[in-house]
Amino acid sequence: GVEDAGALVLFGVTGDLARKMVLPALYRLTADKRLDLPIIGVAKTDMDLAALREHVREAVGAEVGDAAFKKLAGNLRLVAGDYRDPETFAGLRDEVAGLGFLVHYLAVPPSLFAVVAEGLSGVGLNREARLVVEKPFGHDLASARELNDQLLCHFDEDHLRRVDHFLGKEPVEDLMVFRFANTLLEPIWNRNHIRSIQITMAEDFDVRDRGAFYDANGTIRDVVQNHLLQLLAILAMDPPPSTDARAQLDEKWRVLRAVQAIDPSDVVRGQYAGYLDTDGVRPGSTTETYVAMRAHIDNWRWAGVPWCIRSGKALPTTDLEVVAELRRPPVTMFRGGAEPAGPNLIRFRLQPDAGVTFDLLAKEPGKQHTRPVPVSVDFTKVLGPMEAAYVRILTDALSGDPRRFARFDLVDESWRIVHRVLDLPEQPLPYEKGTWGPEPAAKIPPGGWHEISTTFD
Ligand code: BG6
Repeated sequence: GVEDAGALVLFGVTGDLARKMVLPALYRLTADKRLDLPIIGVAKTDMDLAALREHVREAVGAEVGDAAFKKLAGNLRLVAGDYRDPETFAGLRDEVAGLGFLVHYLAVPPSLFAVVAEGLSGVGLNREARLVVEKPFGHDLASARELNDQLLCHFDEDHLRRVDHFLGKEPVEDLMVFRFANTLLEPIWNRNHIRSIQITMAEDFDVRDRGAFYDANGTIRDVVQNHLLQLLAILAMDPPPSTDARAQLDEKWRVLRAVQAIDPSDVVRGQYAGYLDTDGVRPGSTTETYVAMRAHIDNWRWAGVPWCIRSGKALPTTDLEVVAELRRPPVTMFRGGAEPAGPNLIRFRLQPDAGVTFDLLAKEPGKQHTRPVPVSVDFTKVLGPMEAAYVRILTDALSGDPRRFARFDLVDESWRIVHRVLDLPEQPLPYEKGTWGPEPAAKIPPGGWHEISTTFD
C-alpha cells in the first residue's frame, strides 16, 4: 500500500475544510519544497481555474506574486461538476491520464464518501490510487461499518486512509518516545503505581457557527470517539515490538479491545447556558457540549485504574493535558502542614505549550521541620510543536505511511466503547460558560480532577 503519489485529487477544493486546513498545508509543503505535483481540485462550482487560484491564494494568505504560491497555483487544475454525475468522473479521468499513482483526498461531507468512491471506481480511478477520507467516520458503530463496507467495494484497507488530525499532532506522537525510549516511566506505568489517569481537552470557545453540525453530533462523537480514544490508546498501549506502523497500530488495537463499553453511570454530560439559542441547534436539544467519563481497561496493566476523560466547549481555557496521579506512599511519614502531602503527578502538556512536568515533593529547604512542599520538574521542548498537524497528515497521505491514520479495526473498537453513551435521553446538566462544566463531573475521578497546568499560578 505504500506508493508515492503522482498527483493529488482534492475533492471539495472550494469547501470549508480545504480552505482552513488542506490548502494551507499544501502551501506550507510547497514553500518548504516538499511538494511539487499536479493538484486536481474537484468541486461543484462556477469558478474557473483563474478564480480557483485566487480563492486558494486567499485561503493560504499569500501575497500576489509570492513564489511558493505561484508554484502551487501552477500545479493546480480544476474539474468542476456534481459528484453524482458520471460526467464529472469522466472529465477527471481525462485530466489525470498518465499522471501515475493518485491520492484522492475527500474534504467533503461524509454522506458523499461512498458516492465519490463509486464515481471513481466507475471510471477505473480506484486502481493505482489511495482514498483519504476526513472525519467523522460513521455516526455510530453500525453506520461506520456500513460506510466501511461501501468503501471496501472500491478500495482495499491498504489503500484507505481515515484522517484523525490528532494523530498528526507532533506532541501526541512524541508521547510514544517519552514512554518507550526511557526506562524511568515504564515500570511504574501500570495499576501498581498509578491511581488514575485524567485526560482534559478543554476549549474556551463555544460551538460558534457550527450549530447544525455540532447539534447532530455532540462532544462524545466530535472528539471522544476519535481524538481522545486515540490518545488513550497511545498512552495505555503496551510497547510495540518495533517502530513499524503495523506494530504500533496492532498495539493500539489490542488495548482498545480491552476497554469496556462505557456505562451511562460513568458519564456526566453538560450543556452550556445559551447553547439552545445557537443557529442550527434544535429546540430542546439534548446534545451535550461537555462530557466527563470514566473508562475501564480490563487488562493486567490497567485493571482497576479509572481512565477519566473530560472535554467541552465554553470552558475556562483551551488546553489538552493528561495528568497521571501516582499512588501515595504506603506510610504517611510527612505531612504538608496540617494536610497529608499531595500525590505525585506526571503531566503531559500537549497543547498549547507542549512539555512534561513531574509534580513531586521535597523538604522546604533551610527549615528545621521536615514538611514537604511541592516542587515541579519541568521538561520543555521534549515534545514537538503543536502546529501543522495537517502538514504531517498530508505528507503521509501522499507517501502512504498508514501510522497516523485510523485503521478501521481501531475505529470499530472506539465506536463500541462509546456506543452505550451516545444519544442518552436525559437533558444534559446546565453549566455557565467559562466554568469547568456541571458540578457532578467532579465525582468522575477518585478525589476529583487535578487542576491543569495553565489554570494555576
Ligand atoms: C475537531 C472538532 O475535530 O477538533 C472540533 O470537530 C475541535 O470541535 C477540534 O474544536 C480541535 O482540534 P484542534 O486541533 O484545534 O485542537
